[in-house]
Amino acid sequence: MSETIARITDYASVVRERHSVRQYDPNWTISEAELKEILAEASLAPSSSNTQSWRFFVFHDKELRKKLLPIANNQQQVVDASAVVAVLADREGFKRIGRINDIAVEKGLMPRDFADQYAERTVKIYGGLSQEKQTQIALVDGGLVSMQIMLSAKSRGFDTVPMGGFDAARLVEEFGIPDHLVPVMLIAIGRAAGPSRPTARLPLEEITYWNGEGL
Ligand SMILES: Cc1cc2nc3c(=O)[nH]c(=O)nc-3n(C[C@H](O)[C@H](O)[C@H](O)COP(=O)(O)O)c2cc1C
Repeated sequence: MSETIARITDYASVVRERHSVRQYDPNWTISEAELKEILAEASLAPSSSNTQSWRFFVFHDKELRKKLLPIANNQQQVVDASAVVAVLADREGFKRIGRINDIAVEKGLMPRDFADQYAERTVKIYGGLSQEKQTQIALVDGGLVSMQIMLSAKSRGFDTVPMGGFDAARLVEEFGIPDHLVPVMLIAIGRAAGPSRPTARLPLEEITYWNGEGL
């Protein structure tokens, strides 16, 4: 089944209505085109020096998701949702800044000499960082794009659940993920078949230090 579902167009509703959904209609499907739209929109997220070090392993095929199930602690949403995106952080993603800047030049967004200097400097700076720091930077970018995947899906009437409950070592091994791609999280995307669990938030005054007060 893949009918058109109502879009949510205003930002506040998208944010307020997004909840982690763990029950999905197993008969619902999401098209490749819809997934591409969600991922392309999510890729508008900011990233460190615009290196866009996120990569997406899309588990669209149900049989493939059945293989993922035991790796994801048998969380049933992996098979019942319509797709699962494994967001990966490419700790060598900065090496593609030249390609990114080429696109910017083609689009007239950047002069050629600036693009080349920027790329050279970025590769030099990021290349000089420890592997741990490179990973940390890519993981932050991965978190940002993950959030945008969930909001973009929600605005299209789909629900999601982010999952950190999976065996990253087994994921990498089973699906041949190269060493420089570090799993960030899995995100199930589908059509809700049950309500989400309501969740509470800490009051703002318990998480905010105005001008550093209360630290
Ligand atoms: C990094 C991360 C990992 C998570 N891992 C899981 C998971 O493995 N399984 C699950 O059911 N929910 C998981 N969640 C969902 C959280 O439980 C949920 O976001 C939180 O309880 C707040 O609820 P809400 O998303 O409905 O607002 C995860 C969320 C995040 C951000």
